[in-house]
Amino acid sequence: MKLVARPSGPLAGRFAVPGDKSLSHRALILGALAEGETVIAGLLESEDVLATAAALRAFGVRVERFGPGRWRVIGGAWRSPEGPIDCGNSGTGARLLMGAAAGRGVGASFAGDASLSRRPMGRVRRPLETMGAVFEGGDTLPLRLVSGVTRGIAHLNVPASAQVKSAVLLAGLGTGEPVEVAEPVPSRDHTEIMLAAMGVNVERDGATVRLGERRSLSPALLPIAGDPSSAAFALAAAAIVPGSEATAPDVLLNPNRSGFVMALQRMGADVALANVRGQGGETIGDVRVRHGPIFGAEFTAEEIPSMIDEIPILAVVAAFARGETRIEGLDELRHKESDRLSLMAHGLAACGVDVRVDDDALVIQGGQVRGGAEVSTEGDHRIAMAHLVLGLAAEQPVMVDEAGMIATSFPTFREAMRGIGADVSEVR
Ligand code: S3P
Repeated sequence: MKLVARPSGPLAGRFAVPGDKSLSHRALILGALAEGETVIAGLLESEDVLATAAALRAFGVRVERFGPGRWRVIGGAWRSPEGPIDCGNSGTGARLLMGAAAGRGVGASFAGDASLSRRPMGRVRRPLETMGAVFEGGDTLPLRLVSGVTRGIAHLNVPASAQVKSAVLLAGLGTGEPVEVAEPVPSRDHTEIMLAAMGVNVERDGATVRLGERRSLSPALLPIAGDPSSAAFALAAAAIVPGSEATAPDVLLNPNRSGFVMALQRMGADVALANVRGQGGETIGDVRVRHGPIFGAEFTAEEIPSMIDEIPILAVVAAFARGETRIEGLDELRHKESDRLSLMAHGLAACGVDVRVDDDALVIQGGQVRGGAEVSTEGDHRIAMAHLVLGLAAEQPVMVDEAGMIATSFPTFREAMRGIGADVSEVR
């Protein structure tokens, strides 16, 4: 399916933000590790998350939907699944499930789609092997976990990956030995927060996380906040389409996920936060962006983990900013659902933007954007959504060659964008 975004605006209103993807995977998996019934409200019902729900069922866990976004997980014993676990397009699902299964000591084969099968799994496999788990296969999927962990680990998480950190922590629940993960730059800490909310002792000392004595989970009521990575598309659109003002309500404002909102502010955008409050150990609130002049800025490698999934849309905002934007430390972008560094450079250039890749940095000269291109997404949801947002503010429409994959993270993207007045439609 191809989608086209036409110059639109002004955009206005409240954006229907779906549940956070990272929290949704974790709520299902941690619920499955708890003894008893966990209830989840506001679960993101996207393809990635549904693949994790199906995987947990294959491990013998009862996972039931009882209303829109409302799910029940009855955790307890896990068993080895009969066939391979299909993680679809999801790196989070694959890596967290590998860790959880290794902690439970159940063997399983893990597989994924073509994109996931190209992504590095050695970064999870190696620490789990240090913990005594046994694998068959290489450093990419398909992989077979033969047996689970038997000992602890002190893991240095480089590059700072929340997925790897989470896999080690979930595996560590299956051993009584010391388990710690240290990282150079903090990655998202939702696993630590949710484990603590479910009764596990998690000790945090600067950038180091340690599992304490109590490693069993109690079932809980888990509300899922809005996904800042999905909200970013509407916030960016409001920042670049003249006359716009849009609000993304109830968005997760964890500091490790707020880099994009801070980046918009640094670029001079008119951003306001309201109703900031706590929820399940996380911080949430409403984010409002009003159109106004925006300026190029420099972003360093240390800032990237807090906006790792928002770099494609940040690059689009930079294309409309006055002056140069330089975003450094983007090597990890090459290992996402696609090589996002190269695809963003190609897509922006096709839309007439002056852009170059300088080692692992993206350098963009902003201003007027022509648009008027069909962009190749290589099946990457965020590359597709970012270029569609570009098309709303460009001089000419922008088409993306494959938009079906948007359903992996944001199945209601089109309706949500239309809800604030964006002209995004299917090409027939
Ligand atoms: C995620 C962590 C990030 C992010 C991904 C979701 C998570 O990946 O890009 O979309 O839920 O833990 P890495 O941990 O590999 O950086």
